[in-house]
Amino acid sequence: MRYIFLKTINSTQDYLKEQLKIGNDNIVVRVENQVGGRGRVGRKWSSPIGGLWFSFDVEFMSDIIPLAVGVAVKNACEKVFNCKLLLKWPNDLILNGKKIAGILCEKVGDRVIVGVGVNTNIMKIEVENSISFFETTGKVIDNEKLMKNIIEEFFDLGNDKGKIINEFRKNMAFVGEEKYISAINKNAKIMGISDEGHLIVNDDGDNKEVFIGEILI
Ligand code: BTN
Repeated sequence: MRYIFLKTINSTQDYLKEQLKIGNDNIVVRVENQVGGRGRVGRKWSSPIGGLWFSFDVEFMSDIIPLAVGVAVKNACEKVFNCKLLLKWPNDLILNGKKIAGILCEKVGDRVIVGVGVNTNIMKIEVENSISFFETTGKVIDNEKLMKNIIEEFFDLGNDKGKIINEFRKNMAFVGEEKYISAINKNAKIMGISDEGHLIVNDDGDNKEVFIGEILI
């Protein structure tokens, strides 16, 4: 892996897309801030100085890469901050009911660009239903180190589908609660995930499998 650190760019996702186009792969790019940070489903991602914003590219090995990254971010952050995090399907990190990190995986040819945003050393988050580690713990951490820990946790999980699904299941947020499910455009009870990593919800007594979208908080 080649590590690159930049000050301000549009989006680390777009940077890696350009690199892949010219044949450069196996790159990790971290930036101080992004002016065009992107979230899932076309949302903007606020990326001020202080947070951890990075992307890396890996070979596409399975559909559950997004879940694996979620587990990796959770494990690494819990060790550094000594706190308990939950995973909101498909891959948001939740602390005290609020979003503290997000993951965006984009497939480009036979590779996946994995983008990770963690609200670390940010004084005050201006985004609704979101929170930062600094706001909660008062701790300022080394973003470079946390990033390396996340990548290490990710590669340690490897392609162990059973382990990834199991760890996700054990730490899933909002299980048993009624939440708005974007794919079906209504509230349903969160039941868990299938062995394939799909969301299972109960909608008026029927269990349904959800493949896309997310749980809204
Ligand atoms: C989400 O929760 O919607 C996903 C957020 C992903 C944000 C990260 S920050 C680094 C990388 N570059 C981007 O433009 N987005 C991802």
